[in-house]
Amino acid sequence: MQINLNRQSGVPLVRQLYQEMADRIRSGLLEEGAPLPSIRHLSRQANVSFMTVVQAYELLEQEGLITRVQGKGTYVRRTNRRDGTVERKDSGYDWQHTIADYLPRAQFWRQLQQNTLPDTEISFSLISLSPDLVLQLDWAKMMQRIVADDPAVLFSYGPVQGDAVLREAAAVYLRSFGLALRPEEMIVMNGAQQGIDQVARCFVGPGDTVVTEAPTYSAAIDVFRGRGALVRSVPVDEEGMRVDLLAAMFDDKPPKLIYTVPTYHNPTGTVMSARRRAQLLELAESCRCLILEDDPWSEICFGSKPPAPIKSMDRHGHVIYLKSFSKFLAPGCRVAILAATGTILNRLAAAKALTDLGSPLLTQRVVAACLTSPLMNRYLRQLQTELRKRRDRVLTLLQRHASNKVRWTVPQGGFFLWLTMPDRISADELLIAARQRQIDFLPGSVCYPGEPEANHLRICFSNAEEAKLDEGISRLCDLIDESMERAPHAVRPPVM
Ligand SMILES: Cc1ncc(COP(=O)(O)O)c(C=O)c1O
Repeated sequence: MQINLNRQSGVPLVRQLYQEMADRIRSGLLEEGAPLPSIRHLSRQANVSFMTVVQAYELLEQEGLITRVQGKGTYVRRTNRRDGTVERKDSGYDWQHTIADYLPRAQFWRQLQQNTLPDTEISFSLISLSPDLVLQLDWAKMMQRIVADDPAVLFSYGPVQGDAVLREAAAVYLRSFGLALRPEEMIVMNGAQQGIDQVARCFVGPGDTVVTEAPTYSAAIDVFRGRGALVRSVPVDEEGMRVDLLAAMFDDKPPKLIYTVPTYHNPTGTVMSARRRAQLLELAESCRCLILEDDPWSEICFGSKPPAPIKSMDRHGHVIYLKSFSKFLAPGCRVAILAATGTILNRLAAAKALTDLGSPLLTQRVVAACLTSPLMNRYLRQLQTELRKRRDRVLTLLQRHASNKVRWTVPQGGFFLWLTMPDRISADELLIAARQRQIDFLPGSVCYPGEPEANHLRICFSNAEEAKLDEGISRLCDLIDESMERAPHAVRPPVM
C-alpha cells in the first residue's frame, strides 16, 4: 500500500494518515473485510512512528471505518448497510466525511486538481492538442454560417438520437475503419464520457460486475462504481486485455459489462490484437454480456493500421461502440457517437432523453462540417506525422536520460506512453515535486480499479509544444534520479 504524506503541509501526520486510509475505505479501494497492514508494517511504509499509526487507527475505529480483532489484526469494517454508509461515533472530525458519495474516485481528481498550479509550464497530463496541432479552420465563420443557414439549430430541440446530418457524416467517416453502421444505429452523446455514463445508468446496477482493463481510463472506474457495481479488472500485456484471464473469472458469475479501450489503450498505449478481439467477442456472446468499446483515437496511427474495431465483427448486438470526436478534433464541442442495435439501442435512446433531451444542435453541426470537410484527410495525416515526431522525440530522450532505470511502452498511435519506474518510487510523490518544477503527468495509481500500482505514470506528448519536450523530459528524468537516490534498493522494472 502506497501512502503519501506531505511533511511540508502543516497538517499533522496522524490526520494525514487517517485521511489517506479513510479515503481508501470510503472509495472502495479497500473493500469491506479487507485486512489492513500491521502497525509495524505501516509505520515502516509511511516512514512514521508507531504512535502515529496507532493514533490514526484509533481515529478510523472511532469513525466506525475499521475494526480490530484481538490477536488477529485490523480489518475494514463490514457495514451490512445497503447504502454503504457506516455508523459514526463522535470523533471531532468534519461530519460531512460521514456522507458516503457514489463517485468515490472523484477524490483523486480533486486532490490532483487542488495541487495543480494554474500555469504549469510543461504539461504531460492532459490528452489534448497543443494549439499548433489543432485543425486550422475559421471556427467563428463556420458557426456563423451554420446559424445563418438554419436558425433552427438554436431555436429548436433536435432529435433525441442526434442530428441526422451528423449521423450521416459519422456513418461515412466510420466506414474508413471497416465499420458499416447505419445512422439509425447511432445516438449522439455529449462526449464519450456521457456515453459511458449512459451505458452504466441503463445496464449497470448494485451487485452487477463490470470488468475493465488494469490499468484503465480512470474516469470510467468512478462511473461504474457510482452505480454500485463491483469493478473487477484484468491486466493488459502487449496484445491488450488478457482475455484468457477474463475467461477464468467467468466461472463464478459472468460480468454484465466489459469495458475496453482496445486501440491505443488508455493509459498504456497498447493495441488489442485481432485474435484477442475475436476471443473477447466470443466470450461476451457465450455468456450474454455487453462489451463497451471505447475508441477515441484509433485514427491517430503511426504506421500500420490497427485491427478493425470489435464492433465490426458484432453479429448479435453485444458491442456498444463509442467514438469520441474530442481528442483529435474539438473537445469543446462535446460530441461523440454511440452505436448499438436492437433493444439495447432503444433503451439507450430513452436514457438519453431522460438525461438532457438531446445534445446541442449547433455543436453537432460543427463536428459534421469538420468530418465532411475536404481538409479532414490531410489534417489527420498531418496530425499523425506530428504526433509521431513527438513520440519519437520522447522515446529518444527517455533512452538518453533514463534507459537504465525506467521502462516504457512504445505506442503505435495515440497521444501518450506509459512509464514504469522502479517499484519503490511513487508517481504520486513524484508529481508533487514535478509541479514545483513546473511539469506534470498523470500518476498511474488513479488508473486501477483495485489496489493501485504506484510506480507508473502516463506521459502525454500531444499537449506540450515540440520545443518544450526536451526540457520537460529532462526535468522528469532528473526527478526520477533524485527519487532513486532516496530509495537506493528500488528494483528496476522488468521489460513490459
Ligand atoms: C478512453 C477515454 N474515453 C473517454 C474519454 C472522454 O472523452 P470525451 O471528451 O469524448 O468525453 C476520455 C478522455 O480522456 C478517454 O481517455
